[in-house]
Amino acid sequence: MRVTIFGATGLLGQALMDEWRDDEVTGLGSADADIRSPEQVSTVIARHCPDWIVLAAAYTDVDGCESHRDLAFAVNCDGAVNVFDGKHDQPYEVDAPLAPQSVYGESKAAAEKQIRDIYPDCCILRTSWVFGVGGKCFPDTILKLAATRKELEIVNDQRGCPTYTVDLARAIQQLCRKGATGTVHATNSGDCTWFDFGSELVKASGLDVQVRPTTSDRFVRPAKRPAYSVLSSSSLCQYGVVMPSWQEATQRYLAERERATRNQVG
Ligand SMILES: NC(=O)c1ccc[n+]([C@@H]2O[C@H](COP(=O)([O-])OP(=O)(O)OC[C@H]3O[C@@H](n4cnc5c(N)ncnc54)[C@H](OP(=O)(O)O)[C@@H]3O)[C@@H](O)[C@H]2O)c1
Repeated sequence: MRVTIFGATGLLGQALMDEWRDDEVTGLGSADADIRSPEQVSTVIARHCPDWIVLAAAYTDVDGCESHRDLAFAVNCDGAVNVFDGKHDQPYEVDAPLAPQSVYGESKAAAEKQIRDIYPDCCILRTSWVFGVGGKCFPDTILKLAATRKELEIVNDQRGCPTYTVDLARAIQQLCRKGATGTVHATNSGDCTWFDFGSELVKASGLDVQVRPTTSDRFVRPAKRPAYSVLSSSSLCQYGVVMPSWQEATQRYLAERERATRNQVG
């Protein structure tokens, strides 16, 4: 099969490119095709004629979206619709009511609605708290801070599911092969607060740093974050896809990060 991945240069996209085996995969960054341009999108799709399209491209700066609303909608909603504009012959599918709390969330929810209208049989995958080697993410920030401090304060009043890009890339590949339709929630299994996640990272790295819990009001940011964003795994289980625990994924991430750092130095 031929697969075209938009957003191949991003955190998830890099893992998709590394993990996707046995198919003819083309990865595109914004320099190859700006998804805000219907012409650029049509041109690359016509060139590659994919059987599957994975859209991992987005404007993901949640706080930046608050002050750049037009850009958020241009990339996350209009861009997504440009990729799935109804002019291709890929069948996909529908789902669920939403209550976005930020401009980022609004732009993503608007995209979901429009893409479902165009492709009732599409597969929309929602995920959360994505981390991996090759881009900005919570563990990378925490480990960099932990290398220079004796104490860290991390918020303990937001609960969610961390998701390792490698496991997500593998799950996406399985979902494509199984012809998944509808909305699917895919995260590593289990849930935690950012404080739990940070504590696990520091402990597993063997760092001598004191991690203390704090509250979100100590770290006010432009975009509101939900206190509870745990996604149910039942939609993923329906397809027989099981993702490892976030703790186990954290161990593999740390090993991958270490290898990547060693390669950079060497
Ligand atoms: N990170 C998270 O915690 C998280 C949580 C839930 C859901 N998600 C979703 O998961 C998906 C992947 O996120 P990620 O964290 O891997 O994103 P990321 O690391 O920020 O990468 C974003 C990707 O989008 C591409 N892109 C941005 N603007 C574009 C444009 N106008 N035209 C074409 N490509 C463009 C970038 O290309 P260039 O680098 O070449 O410019 C890059 O490849 C997104 O849909 C995101 O909303 C992420």
